[in-house]
Amino acid sequence: MSVIYVDQWCDALPKMWQAVGQTPDKIFVLTDEMTRVHCRSRLPISGEDVVEICIPQGDENKTLTTLSGVWEKLTHHGATRHSLLICLGGGVVTDLGGFAAAAFKRGIPFVNVPTTLLAMVDAAVGGKTGINFAGLKNEVGAFCPARAVMVDAGMLGTLSHENVCSGFAEMLKHSLLGSVEMWAEHVSCDPNDVDEKVMARMIRQSIEVKAHVVAQDPTERGLRKCLNLGHTLGHAFESLALEKGQPVLHGYAVAWGLAGELYLSEKLMGFPLERMRQTVRFIKEIYGDVRFECKDYDTLLDFISHDKKNVGSRVNFCLLRDIGQVALDIQVSREDITDAFDFLREGF
Ligand code: GLY
Repeated sequence: MSVIYVDQWCDALPKMWQAVGQTPDKIFVLTDEMTRVHCRSRLPISGEDVVEICIPQGDENKTLTTLSGVWEKLTHHGATRHSLLICLGGGVVTDLGGFAAAAFKRGIPFVNVPTTLLAMVDAAVGGKTGINFAGLKNEVGAFCPARAVMVDAGMLGTLSHENVCSGFAEMLKHSLLGSVEMWAEHVSCDPNDVDEKVMARMIRQSIEVKAHVVAQDPTERGLRKCLNLGHTLGHAFESLALEKGQPVLHGYAVAWGLAGELYLSEKLMGFPLERMRQTVRFIKEIYGDVRFECKDYDTLLDFISHDKKNVGSRVNFCLLRDIGQVALDIQVSREDITDAFDFLREGF
């Protein structure tokens, strides 16, 4: 998979065709209703052999029905193994589009053009594709890398402040997995007030951290589990918020998950106290307080124990000994998880 940083599309397109490796007989551009309006015109690919496919927006549409609609369009318009699918959008479009391409005629090439910060630094990179199924997120899918990921920071122009913060949480995670220098820069900035050039460089560094991990472990047998830092607790907060009818953006839940998992890292793995405090202060300032009560603890513990990353009945966390020093498959007791909840509610 090549990551191509777009300054000018006229310079980037030849690199993209080189990464695709063949001249497609037809090009399909997959968007959702939002990205079709706000971002489609930034992608200078059009013509007789270009077919547009637009899906409804939102995670609730990352379904088999939507996927089947994409396959129908591909079939109806005569897609072959020599066709190319370009997924222009956020995580839903790149996840679902990638899976559509991975399975259609046993695999056709696809390119991701992420339009959200979250998709740029995470979803579009690393080959995880899939859909939600039977009420479970990303239950069906495949590891299948895009031939190229086109990173055009100009696509972020129409993103809301909340969506920038949401994507920034994954960047904060990458900085914790990366280096002290990266981390120090992340915890001392305001995600919505970073100079454009600096942001472009930070995005590149963030993608490099993820790409480096994925290159060593593409199918998550070992090291790639470190990319779940913040997600074991984060997914539980996200599910609880959804159950209460007050959904939160993924990155907000991840940020709160990072705070809780840094608390556990300090308590169980000796992560430096002052670095933990500084990160937690930053998370509180940017993402506010995580909202749950004592009576939610059992529900949260239930969500955690059903996380699909668990093996058997063990609840496994990825924790940190220090910045850049991961500890994988750490079993954490119910008591320690409860302490982390207390910390987030009271000491946060
Ligand atoms: N989002 C985590 C991963 O790609 O492994």
